[in-house]
Amino acid sequence: MVALDIVHASNARLRELGPGLVALFVGGTSGIGEFTLKAFVQNTASPRVYLVGRNVTAADRIIKECGELNKEGKVEFLKADVSELKEVDRICKEIQKREKKINLIVQTQGNLNLNGRNENPEGLDRKFTLNYYSRMRFIHNLLPELRTASTEPPNFARALSVLGAGHESAMNLSDIDLKTTFSTTRCATHTTVMNDFMAEEFAAREPGISFLHSAPGLVNTGVARELPLLLRGVLKIATPLLLPFYVGANETGARQLYLSSSAIYPPAKPTEGAPLAAGVPFPKDLSVSKGSNGKVGSGGYLANWNGEIVGKEKLLSDYRAQGLGKVIWEHTMEVFQKVEAINEGKIDPATS
Ligand SMILES: NC(=O)c1ccc[n+]([C@@H]2O[C@H](COP(=O)([O-])OP(=O)(O)OC[C@H]3O[C@@H](n4cnc5c(N)ncnc54)[C@H](OP(=O)(O)O)[C@@H]3O)[C@@H](O)[C@H]2O)c1
Repeated sequence: MVALDIVHASNARLRELGPGLVALFVGGTSGIGEFTLKAFVQNTASPRVYLVGRNVTAADRIIKECGELNKEGKVEFLKADVSELKEVDRICKEIQKREKKINLIVQTQGNLNLNGRNENPEGLDRKFTLNYYSRMRFIHNLLPELRTASTEPPNFARALSVLGAGHESAMNLSDIDLKTTFSTTRCATHTTVMNDFMAEEFAAREPGISFLHSAPGLVNTGVARELPLLLRGVLKIATPLLLPFYVGANETGARQLYLSSSAIYPPAKPTEGAPLAAGVPFPKDLSVSKGSNGKVGSGGYLANWNGEIVGKEKLLSDYRAQGLGKVIWEHTMEVFQKVEAINEGKIDPATS
């Protein structure tokens, strides 16, 4: 476990990366995203932040609170329902009109509803899209801006997806998008393993950028708001009993920011001669982490809430030996192409 004082000391050095870091927080209107966004604003010099979600009231409050944390920072809200990739594409275009580089993407969009498969007009389940397709689409669309960030001082570029690293189990490989075998549990399993492998796949293709999939631990957030009333009641009663197991709001923000910025999780090939390209330097008694493919410093990492490397090793290495990373990459690119065709009116989702 990375000690909390190391986390705070690392975050306090983020200003060394210079003014004007640009960050995107999708799902930053509540919970883990909000806590991490605030930690980022508090610890950076003149940051520019894009906050994506649906809740305007929460966004207004967060923007006001960020103004108090850092008067030189700028936070802009972009309202969108990112359970549809059309909306992801629209938001990316909005950001691309304003920014040439993006140093950091943090994604926490999701919910805990138990509604079963709920297809969007693109033929994708909305929960699956929040946990996975929307996250990969943001990263994929914004690769040009991440690459620019990795090639211009301070040469720092990273993408963090907060979901369930370490909580992998077997997938149904004959129904990757769970078109016919959807359940809430399977959705969690598939999107967790798929986030794992895509961190690895992106890292192999983009040597100047690091990609992390993290698990946040148990955090008291708004994530239960879409649970059925009875379950919400049970959770409310149980919350005091769970308190000792919760990772607090400030600690969560600090720890996810550490994952977002420490040189413990560098890209595969940080720009030479750029001392901060790997991220915020770490103390001498720590060392660079092992990537998900087993190689130290591979650029793709699975991290627990406390900074430790996680992942069900046997399951993931068996899947890797079967070529699952390539399968997931190709599946994802095919889904993107199909959704583009649907949104351009070239094919009908009902018949495709
Ligand atoms: N809290 C935990 O203990 C815990 C544990 C393990 C994993 N996780 C995972 O961590 C992630 C973050 O959870 P959290 O606890 O921070 O939850 P949260 O407080 O409910 O935050 C979820 C965020 O996702 C956004 N969101 C949800 N649906 C959206 C949509 N259709 N379009 C755009 N934004 C949407 C919400 O914004 P709007 O409401 O503004 O749309 C909100 O900002 C989730 O994937 C969750 O499954 C959480």
